[in-house]
Amino acid sequence: MTRNSMRAVAVRPRVADSLHVRSVPRPSLDEVPDGRGVLVRVLRVGLCGTDREIIDAEFGEAPAGEDALILGHESLGRVEAVGPEVPDSLVPGTLVVATVRRPGSSAYDAIGHPDLSTSDDFPERGIRRAHGFLAEFYADAAEYLVPLPASLAEVGVLLEPLSIVEKGIRQAFEIQQRLRIWEPRRAAVLGAGPIGLLAALALRLRGIEVAVYSRRTAPFRNSELVDAVGGRYVSSASTSLAELAASAGPLDLILEATGYSPFAFEAADVLAPNGILVLASVTGGDQTAEIPTDRINQGLVLGNKVIVGTVNAHRDDFVEGIDDLLRAEAVFPGWLGQLLTTRVDGLERTDEMLRGLRDDADAIKVYVEVAEGG
Ligand code: BGC
Repeated sequence: MTRNSMRAVAVRPRVADSLHVRSVPRPSLDEVPDGRGVLVRVLRVGLCGTDREIIDAEFGEAPAGEDALILGHESLGRVEAVGPEVPDSLVPGTLVVATVRRPGSSAYDAIGHPDLSTSDDFPERGIRRAHGFLAEFYADAAEYLVPLPASLAEVGVLLEPLSIVEKGIRQAFEIQQRLRIWEPRRAAVLGAGPIGLLAALALRLRGIEVAVYSRRTAPFRNSELVDAVGGRYVSSASTSLAELAASAGPLDLILEATGYSPFAFEAADVLAPNGILVLASVTGGDQTAEIPTDRINQGLVLGNKVIVGTVNAHRDDFVEGIDDLLRAEAVFPGWLGQLLTTRVDGLERTDEMLRGLRDDADAIKVYVEVAEGG
């Protein structure tokens, strides 16, 4: 390894079993225009279902003209060096998380909302058309980096997945301004993976009653984590969604994060009048289901209900997420750390990354410890 190279974990997109470690040029501040570059030393990178789909050759795209994609979009790093035009909030030593999507060409991209882009040309770091963060260093423009307080070094790697939840909840509240009065009391979260658990946390921190609905029978670690934030875990093995809605009371908000698309329509069927259903699962498969369309449609119409899809997150959602991480550490000390179940030590251990993502049914968050100093 020379001074100008570094190790990175990459795939050849759409080629199965192509996960590998490679030596790539070390990024430099000069690649970012206008003196706004920040060079970041990567500390930790979380892995999720999107990474698994990319590894399984179902998703992902290399940068133009290249055949490999450096993986990793859930980052935590420390600023190593900054260009002359970088604001004082980012100095060497600052803990940072990078946002994922970069602007495409639509009007939404132009107003700073690539998360709402309507063009299909936006890059997402570590996912499509732009390298990710599962490497020793990355460089990016200051506006895409979010500074974190030093106290979040242990759990800050959860900020990117939490930002997805923050956007979903923010959108729900913004949309529900249509009602003039909306004070959601009861919510259901479908799915008990990292997104489902973080959604349960964020809703409990807002004083909302939460039922988390997932396949596995309680008790297990995830159901205990739901209990620990004052939520209720319900297994789909013994309870239908309709039974859950009947027993948990009218569901003002349902957030779907199971990855099983038929639930989206079952959830629409059990939503309370004036309720909102937020869909957050990126379902890349070809699942089909027969559904009672008249009943669901009538319920939506007569009940003035909303269904909204949500993807990615705005920088503001990361900033809001920091507040929730800090509140969670104060109100439920140690809870966030328990999501970090499966640590892979170093970039070289690609086998462990694969095992954690594919085979470990007890893993909540698999993450790679790239460098000490978190
Ligand atoms: C990432 C999002 C991204 C989405 C679709 C998710 O795993 O967290 O940032 O927009 O995948 O690519």
